[in-house]
Amino acid sequence: MVGSMEILIGSVVVLHLLGMASIAGGWLANYLGAARGLNVLVWGARVQLILGLVLVGLVQANKEPVSYAKIATKLVVALAVVACAEIANARTRKGKGQPALVNAAFGLMLLNVCVAVLWPNPEA
Ligand code: HEM
Repeated sequence: MVGSMEILIGSVVVLHLLGMASIAGGWLANYLGAARGLNVLVWGARVQLILGLVLVGLVQANKEPVSYAKIATKLVVALAVVACAEIANARTRKGKGQPALVNAAFGLMLLNVCVAVLWPNPEA
């Protein structure tokens, strides 16, 4: 049976996937020369970090087992994504574009997708 908690967690996972899409979409838009692409990427990175932490809280409140090693790994990688995106954004505003940092944010996002999907969650 799908309870209200499952619906809530599922809804936040949907937003978490949209946050991931913002990082990918922002990176692509920036790559293609759109002026605001980097903004989309930065906001996507911030949202991922916050929604990820919210998800951990909800999953635990729902008494589902979590792997702390997996969560810690995702947290460190997500912090690195935010750092790369924020620094690239700040420097670009000052006219010193930083494509390597933008690409690093995208690559680290892909790494976190792999961690999310390939690292198994503990059995209930
Ligand atoms: C760039 C950053 C991130 C990306 C790209 C990302 C990606 C994903 C993806 C693709 C899923 C769905 C996986 C699936 O359902 O099989 C997911 C789920 C999840 N993520 Fe993230 N994530 C990021 C950051 C974080 C952070 C920082 C945390 C927590 C510290 C986190 C915690 C979670 C949790 C708890 C779920 C699973 C929810 C459930 O039980 O269904 N994520 N993430």
